[in-house]
Amino acid sequence: MQNIAVTADGSHTVRSEQFNECYHSERGAVMESRHVFIDAGFRQVERAQIAVLEVGFGTGLNALLTMLEAEKSGQHVYYESIDPYPLDLSTAEMLNFSAFLGIDKQLFMELHRHEWNTPFAVTPRFTLHKIKKNLLNYSLQGKFDVVYFDAFSPEAQPELWTNEVFSRIYSSLNNNSLLTTYSSKGTAKRNLREAGFTVQRLPGAGGKRHMLRAVKL
Ligand SMILES: C[S@@+](CC[C@H](N)C(=O)[O-])C[C@H]1O[C@@H](n2cnc3c(N)ncnc32)[C@H](O)[C@@H]1O
Repeated sequence: MQNIAVTADGSHTVRSEQFNECYHSERGAVMESRHVFIDAGFRQVERAQIAVLEVGFGTGLNALLTMLEAEKSGQHVYYESIDPYPLDLSTAEMLNFSAFLGIDKQLFMELHRHEWNTPFAVTPRFTLHKIKKNLLNYSLQGKFDVVYFDAFSPEAQPELWTNEVFSRIYSSLNNNSLLTTYSSKGTAKRNLREAGFTVQRLPGAGGKRHMLRAVKL
């Protein structure tokens, strides 16, 4: 069981003892996830079929919000999420996202209960494929339209915010695709540019100065 904390919008987050960081912004977990990944990422891609790659499945919040968004928009989503350190089920059970969003808790728990490394259709529109691997040792397969780059910060995990990692992600993207992340750190921006992306600085979540969106033209 890990530490659960309440963020400023009332939704939960988890504090990782291993990385000494929270999984979300203390200004609001749902608020941040919507701002950075749904509004600045998913909603920018108007395709009937969208392949999403997430770095860091964590609490499953981004996956849940994407699934709900796909139901609204009518898009079909293949959602691949990499995480070598899955959250234990007892912690996931305690998270308040379903009550916060007014949805059935079992729908959220399905995202966690289903086995890793096998794709499954959670709804007719949303297929989840959780991959229990370290991104550094995993060779990305397939082509993606949106990347949610949601690792812990560049300070906590500098090995993930590198030119080499971003270049591999760049190669796995279709043209006119994008990557979003909550961080706007200079090294992340530079490494994204060196990997070939066109990088935009956007207003960050909940009054945070900036976040990044990187586009593959
Ligand atoms: C900021 S949290 C992600 C929050 C998550 N997207 C959510 O919606 O709750 C960072 C996640 O990255 C994962 N992670 C850490 N090292 C990783 C690696 N080498 N490859 C992929 N994921 C990693 C952690 O286990 C953690 O779940």
